[in-house]
Amino acid sequence: MKILALIGSPRKGGNTDVLVDQILKGCKERGYICEKLYLYQHKIFPCIDCRNCKKGNYICTINDGMKQIYPKMTEADVIIFGTPNYWYGPTGKMKLFIDRMRPFIENNKLRGKKGIVVTPSAEGTKASSLIVEMF
Ligand SMILES: Cc1cc2nc3c(=O)[nH]c(=O)nc-3n(C[C@H](O)[C@H](O)[C@H](O)COP(=O)(O)O)c2cc1C
Repeated sequence: MKILALIGSPRKGGNTDVLVDQILKGCKERGYICEKLYLYQHKIFPCIDCRNCKKGNYICTINDGMKQIYPKMTEADVIIFGTPNYWYGPTGKMKLFIDRMRPFIENNKLRGKKGIVVTPSAEGTKASSLIVEMF
């Protein structure tokens, strides 16, 4: 089982990171292969709706850090999306990432994978319901 954790908080060692680490700790104890990426360390340009990912091989043609992340998503059985609540939505960086997931919607490559959303907030659980719904 391969687990890919994506940290969408700019705060390395912050709340999102700590919570995701707890999940990864349990995964490692079970012998799962785990990888954690900090999205703020990757250059991610915005989706420009060029629609190249909707045809042919469903490949995003933007040349940036997503080129390294897409294959990891393909390989992962479980993807953990970690983002703090910023005004009832994800961080800007995580939103860039979500928009760039479009090829994976078009090519159905998310089918069969499991997703986990980790979204700490100052106000408590209810404040994150829109974020969970979006994912
Ligand atoms: C720009 C910004 C907006 C935020 N908006 C909210 C909010 O609307 N509701 C909330 O409960 N917390 C909000 N927070 C608080 C963060 O969600 C909270 O501190 C979170 O635990 C930070 O996680 P991190 O340590 O992983 O970055 C906001 C924080 C920032 C910086």
